[in-house]
Amino acid sequence: MGQIEEMLGTSAAIRTVFSVIHKVAKTDLPVLVTGETGTGKELTAQAIHDRSLRKRGAFVPINCGAIPETLLESELFGHERGAFTGAVQQKKGRLEAASGGTVFLDEVGELLLSLQVKLLRFLQKGTCERVGSQETLHVDARVIAATNLDLKESIDKNLFREDLYYRLGVLHIHLPPLRDRGEDTLLMAMSFLKQAAASQRKSIRGYTSEALNAIRTYPWPGNVRELSNRIRRAVVMAEGPEITPHDLDLTGEALCGTDSLDSLRAAHRRIEVELIVKAMSLHQGNLTRVARELQVSRTTLYRKLRAYNLGDHLSFTEGGCSVAPAN
Ligand SMILES: Nc1ncnc2c1ncn2[C@@H]1O[C@H](COP(=O)(O)OP(=O)(O)OP(=O)(O)O)[C@@H](O)[C@H]1O
Ligand SMILES: [Mg+2]
Repeated sequence: MGQIEEMLGTSAAIRTVFSVIHKVAKTDLPVLVTGETGTGKELTAQAIHDRSLRKRGAFVPINCGAIPETLLESELFGHERGAFTGAVQQKKGRLEAASGGTVFLDEVGELLLSLQVKLLRFLQKGTCERVGSQETLHVDARVIAATNLDLKESIDKNLFREDLYYRLGVLHIHLPPLRDRGEDTLLMAMSFLKQAAASQRKSIRGYTSEALNAIRTYPWPGNVRELSNRIRRAVVMAEGPEITPHDLDLTGEALCGTDSLDSLRAAHRRIEVELIVKAMSLHQGNLTRVARELQVSRTTLYRKLRAYNLGDHLSFTEGGCSVAPAN
């Protein structure tokens, strides 16, 4: 199934995610999005909302781990005037604010057990009460939750309710870490470089071969966010026309590489994308020269650019400039 335009990637792992996003967007069931930090959980939640029948409603995020416990209940469910010291007027909760739309419960694993009970009831019945009120409200908000914790482990430690886990996780999307997305890392590296060079108005045409190697072998513990941040920093630091490992602050010990095995097909894709990206970078997007270097016809090169969706991420001209600064 189709691409998710705001999310980059052509690896088999991410294409599976895209197809699930399209499917779950059509329903009103809760979705649980899991994955390491920086893998795109919030982006995924927003992508689901934007493709759902609720897209004209609000997308209301709330970070359950970043709000003090004492305030979280009133943030989620709202409160009546006088419900507690400081509650000088009635306030709607985020669930109510998301009525007709989607509430995104980020870091749901951090929710206190007492609030987990209330959330479970909301998921079962669509009802809740504001803090300090007896009145039962019916709220039509779809719930998408995210966590980077292992909720099964939290259940074993009695920190997370098993019944809530099964309610939330009827539909589950797991975002693979960047290191398991093969050629996507290079693809994103090219796309982020293009954006960063344009926004910082620097004329940078690509990466050195060592930098591409470093990007490929570094395990990216902070995933897509780390990749994007390092590239933005590198563009600021770069003194030459090409980004070096030093600009990326990826030198020496950081590069341990992975020794997991790829399937032959995945390895083939990865190597092709890598060579095309390298050659495009080296020849500044000049297709004739890239085709000559890779010893394929221009038609074959075009076909591969299309097949790997690279055309959208690498700009090319006859004169050739793979990463153009903004005017
Ligand atoms: N597939 C993707 N294509 C392009 N950009 C992406 C992709 N995935 C993530 N990003 C970008 O990476 C950054 C991190 O994404 P996001 O905030 O959705 O991750 P997260 O999983 O919610 O992270 P955290 O666990 O730290 O909250 C954002 O700037 C987002 O736009
Ligand atoms: Mg997040």
